Amino acid sequence: MTGIGPVGAAHVPVMCGVVEWLRPRPGACLVDATVGAGGHAAAWLDAAPSDVRLLAIDHDPTALALAGRALARFGDRVVFRQGSFADTAALCNSIGWDAVDGVLVDLGVSSMQLDTAERGFSFQRRGPLDMRMDPSAPLTAATIVNEWPEAELARVVREYGEEPRARAVARAIVRARPIADTAALADVVAGVLGRGRPGHHPATRTFQGLRIAVNDELGALDRFLADAWRLLRPGGRLAIIAYHSLEDRRVKTAFRWWAATCHCPPLAPQCTCGWRPVVRLLTPRPLRPEAEEIARNPRARSARLRIVERVPETPP
Ligand SMILES: C[S@@+](CC[C@H](N)C(=O)[O-])C[C@H]1O[C@@H](n2cnc3c(N)ncnc32)[C@H](O)[C@@H]1O
Repeated sequence: MTGIGPVGAAHVPVMCGVVEWLRPRPGACLVDATVGAGGHAAAWLDAAPSDVRLLAIDHDPTALALAGRALARFGDRVVFRQGSFADTAALCNSIGWDAVDGVLVDLGVSSMQLDTAERGFSFQRRGPLDMRMDPSAPLTAATIVNEWPEAELARVVREYGEEPRARAVARAIVRARPIADTAALADVVAGVLGRGRPGHHPATRTFQGLRIAVNDELGALDRFLADAWRLLRPGGRLAIIAYHSLEDRRVKTAFRWWAATCHCPPLAPQCTCGWRPVVRLLTPRPLRPEAEEIARNPRARSARLRIVERVPETPP
């Protein structure tokens, strides 16, 4: 693939040991639903039998192009699709797969997206107020920052950014309109919140809130989690790496719900399957990166990994 513009530092995959949990059988079908730069996908395929195939999904075409380079050595074992992980089932169907053996979702934003000023994700680099992972999506951060009512803006900063002083931030943003770029926005937020604690820019939470709203990140996760277990063949595994509590709480709740849901139809008067839950929790508590990984890659510090395995409908 060609046409990749200037991009930032290479993305270092977080908790790459996840592939040890997802060791596929020969002939397996795998999905990396947020392929990014392809680091996890390459490690996964390297650890898999040589006839395993992988569907690589990302809604950022630049990420897909980078993954295309990183995974070129696997040839036609990898199929690329631009789209949202919320549509994983449909994307699998588009290549003739109705169930798969492993799904990996590594949430959030990649280092290339963060470090590429023109994408507008970073308060440390002057760039347009964009923040779209899918550049064809209609909503940009500029629209929220410069056009949304103050109350809506405050909700985004409070709910998605978990910023305790969201109302003050929203008020200052509305007063400063029009705000031209990321650096100007970061200055406005710092003007209200002060310098922040060492190593933590005061605009971190505001930028996180805007990014989540622009990309409807929690909506996509909720749609995916509605019934993602159905994607898996018996014995198939789903692993999700989350980076903040808003995501991880959703993953934890869905996984626990599935592990407490048996194979009987939802309104069946009584259980007839012998109480076989649809999934087994392989990680009752989330796995965290080792201190050594965090020292090497500070971006890993907030990662939490949870994994479930599909239980067959009848005992093997
Ligand atoms: C943390 S990075 C993944 C990095 C990847 N695991 C690697 O090893 O390079 C997250 C990726 O998910 C993508 N992404 C975020 N939300 C998405 C969604 N709803 N659907 C598809 N891709 C999404 C982003 O564009 C980004 O490339």
